[in-house]
Amino acid sequence: MAVRNIRKIGDDILRKKCRPIEKIDDNLLTLLDDMAETMKIANGVGLAAPQVGVLKRVVVIDVGDGLLELINPEIVNLSGTQISCEGCLSVPDKYGEVVRPEKVVVRAMDRNGEYYEVVGQELLAVALCHELDHLDGVLYVDKAQRFLSKDEIE
Ligand code: NI
Repeated sequence: MAVRNIRKIGDDILRKKCRPIEKIDDNLLTLLDDMAETMKIANGVGLAAPQVGVLKRVVVIDVGDGLLELINPEIVNLSGTQISCEGCLSVPDKYGEVVRPEKVVVRAMDRNGEYYEVVGQELLAVALCHELDHLDGVLYVDKAQRFLSKDEIE
């Protein structure tokens, strides 16, 4: 496993639409491993492939309940609303309030090519929405209704 360089806001790659994965190969498995390692080292709860410069529909998330690997993820249902306070590894030292669904259901493929569904509420719902947005070149700062200083967070 290797830690990859995290692209920061202003880098054009973060604004591109990612392509679906068509086959599971060693490159993809290495990408998944490296993304998990990079997220962990950076103390993130989620990371999307474009954040490490790869325009593929791949996301890793760990909100404290174990690692989720999502290949070609799609939101199949969403309900309710919550206001989340979000940061992003690609937007250092900034936080913002974003309106997100309270609950989402995402369908994705795992590294064995099997489809599964994740039901996310609270923080997991936020992480799923935030990371899936990255796959379409959308950053949370585009949606934030208010930005917070570091003091307001701590
Ligand atoms: Ni992010």
